Amino acid sequence: MYVCLCNGVTDKAIREAVDGGARSWREVRESTGCATQCGKCACVGKALTREAVVTS
Ligand code: FES
Repeated sequence: MYVCLCNGVTDKAIREAVDGGARSWREVRESTGCATQCGKCACVGKALTREAVVTS
């Protein structure tokens, strides 16, 4: 599903960023571009990042 409509970032892209070594919301944001425009997706992006880091 799309998490960030501004930049077309999906939940899969967030999981892949974590699999690729991102360990914080800031790192995921920098590598995917999620929440770098309107910011409405930040809450969901953060939650997905946390979940991905815990389960990775
Ligand atoms: Fe992600 Fe706008 S929906 S920055």
